[in-house]
Amino acid sequence: MTSTAASGVSGPIALFFGTRPQVIKASVLRECLAAVGPVVAVDTGQHYDYALHRVHYEQLGVREPDACLDVGSGSHAAQTGAILSACEAWLGQHRPRLAVVIGDTNSTLACALAAVKLAVPVAHVEAGMRVGDRYMAEEINRRVVDAVAELLFAPCERVAHDLRSQFADAQVEAVGDVAYDVLRRALPRAPRLDGVEGYDPAWGREFVYATLHRAELVDAPARLGRVMEGLGRSPLPCLLAAHPRTAAALKRLGCASHGNVRVTEPVGYLDSIALVRDAAAVVTDSGGLQREAYWLGVPCGTVRRETEWVETVECGGNRLVPPEQGADLPAAIAQAARRRVGEGPWNRGAYGDGHAAERIAGVLAQRFQGAASSSR
Ligand code: UD1
Repeated sequence: MTSTAASGVSGPIALFFGTRPQVIKASVLRECLAAVGPVVAVDTGQHYDYALHRVHYEQLGVREPDACLDVGSGSHAAQTGAILSACEAWLGQHRPRLAVVIGDTNSTLACALAAVKLAVPVAHVEAGMRVGDRYMAEEINRRVVDAVAELLFAPCERVAHDLRSQFADAQVEAVGDVAYDVLRRALPRAPRLDGVEGYDPAWGREFVYATLHRAELVDAPARLGRVMEGLGRSPLPCLLAAHPRTAAALKRLGCASHGNVRVTEPVGYLDSIALVRDAAAVVTDSGGLQREAYWLGVPCGTVRRETEWVETVECGGNRLVPPEQGADLPAAIAQAARRRVGEGPWNRGAYGDGHAAERIAGVLAQRFQGAASSSR
């Protein structure tokens, strides 16, 4: 490494994750990074519910983590602080040569900070994503993590270009999106929908798959109410897999039924990609689902004002419907369902070719080789 980092070149690579989508991405990274050297997988425990988290270990056959920090939920400060302390203690004991963090959650932020403060170099996977909202929890996390990381792995060249102009002292690489690696590998194992909880076989492919989980939407009763009203008047039945935060908010909102919407628990990853694959349209505020719909050629309505994944909108596969305009959802769904395109006429190559994790491993192998020869 070119930095003044204190850790040696011989320790393990520490791979940190803690939320549902991170478990999934970490599974592929863990496998590919093993070609570079020993990898230690650390789950912070930010997510802990069976339906939200554990099911992914079981469904994907993901190996148990080597360590779990068991931090659980809390306010942003409490949760970030708990991960920071627990991660610092863990790092002090294990002295990895590199800390790999993924995405933009409180786990990403806290593990990156704990590492860099102990002079352990940080590599950020899914670096550089922005929407220009400095008060959004994930955007704060991304900005800070990109600023302290020594290696920035961007999902596409557009993002890598922006990062290079901001962080001249970091190594920036456009490697593609690890989420695509995971999707390509998992798709053959995605089940038929008949057995998926909450799905009604009478729907065939004429249904909408929806997820909502972001605090900005779910914790704002007026916005959530508008979106639920819009989904309730959807021309197609709608299966809403509700994050625990969403389920609690819907209960507080007090609407016992939501017209055409059937609310279920969060579904496992394989069920989720099966639902995307077979849906007429997807409605979501999740970055992961926006890309999965894009790759699978299924039109998506994103209930946000903006998206980090602008290429999905530019190609016509994704349409932004701000929550305040929830009344537009029925028309957006009808339009999307007419455009369902199976394999998709749009170019699906914006975020690489499904080999991002291998590229990341290749970059790390080169860096470690360089560091080893310069320390001889
Ligand atoms: C987090 C990430 C978000 C990511 C999402 C993936 C942050 C700031 N946000 O959001 O970027 O898209 O994970 O799913 O890190 N809860 C449970 N069971 C659990 C975990 C959480 O019931 O296993 C409830 C708790 O009431 C908790 C709330 O969900 O307070 C929010 O959880 P939290 O981890 O703070 O953030 P997410 O909304 O899940």
